[in-house]
Amino acid sequence: MGVEPASVLVGGSSSLTLMFQMMLTAYQFGLKDAASAWKNEGEVKFICPVPGYDRHYTVCEQLGIKMINVPMTSTGPDMDAVESLLKADKSIKGMWCVPKYSNPTGVVYSDETVERIAKLGQIASANFRVFWDNAYSVHDLTANAPQLASILDATRRNGTEDSVVQFASTSKITHAGSGVAFVAASAANLAGFKKFLNSCTIGPDKVNQIRHTRFLPNKEALMAHMGKHAALLNPRFDAVLSGLSKAFEGTDLGAWEKPVGGYFVSFDTRKNCAKETVRLAAEAGVKLTPAGATYPYGKDPEDRNIRIAPSVPTVPEVVGAMEVFVTCVKLASVKQQLASIS
Ligand SMILES: Cc1ncc(COP(=O)(O)O)c(C=O)c1O
Repeated sequence: MGVEPASVLVGGSSSLTLMFQMMLTAYQFGLKDAASAWKNEGEVKFICPVPGYDRHYTVCEQLGIKMINVPMTSTGPDMDAVESLLKADKSIKGMWCVPKYSNPTGVVYSDETVERIAKLGQIASANFRVFWDNAYSVHDLTANAPQLASILDATRRNGTEDSVVQFASTSKITHAGSGVAFVAASAANLAGFKKFLNSCTIGPDKVNQIRHTRFLPNKEALMAHMGKHAALLNPRFDAVLSGLSKAFEGTDLGAWEKPVGGYFVSFDTRKNCAKETVRLAAEAGVKLTPAGATYPYGKDPEDRNIRIAPSVPTVPEVVGAMEVFVTCVKLASVKQQLASIS
């Protein structure tokens, strides 16, 4: 996480739980004090770079926080849009970020984006918090992995340390559901959060924590372990990417990025074809993440984005699934084109 150990709180198995609890604390009880609780200010809004991670959106939905879409670019969220929204609307209290190998686009935020995010605390209303979910911080697929700039250093340069809270977990390192999750934050934010935790838990599973420290005693062990994941994942990503290029390179039937880390390939169909593609694929026996899941409220305004997650199936299964997938994209595109003519 690139922070001093004293800034880290090690929790249970799920960073999503920590994010939910942090959001609940900020909303209901206030991270600074009761007066800082977001609920005191009426309507609360959150910026959501899209496409993004569906479970971030369900946290906001559960707490009645209104989500505002901002497009992702190849360098991170569209920061011009983020800054002008924040200047215009004081009810915006935070923003979701997956800064490295973003779920699902695989984008790594550029240094400039990290710096501009660290400056948001200067233009946003009081008690604004960036939820910096670095879920894929060491999940590189290549030896020359892109480096993410330190958000902590950037906030220190800008005097905005309280405006960013970082999260991570070993869910995609050891085992989802039985890993270890982390939150890193300023002393003030951690104090507010611990006050909340104190009211609802005696403590996390320490036996699991020591299992993890024994299995991954240092950074070398961690990176060697991640190298083994990369060896498993690379052929799966290659199968997805070669299936897509063979079918769509030089056509306007789809657009995608080639991620160098993380767990996903994000694919955009032509407008109004994603739902139908997913439906057709399911009919043919290939189960995909529901179309729309990568947008707040499950609503992709252009019905284009599909998240492809090839980590679980075997390589031959991915190859077969991609044949089905590209056929369904083509079929959905043809059906959509015919419908628009008639
Ligand atoms: C961006 C992101 N954050 C958080 C999580 C969930 O992590 P955890 O298992 O630690 O709750 C995921 C899992 O898919 C994810 O993609």
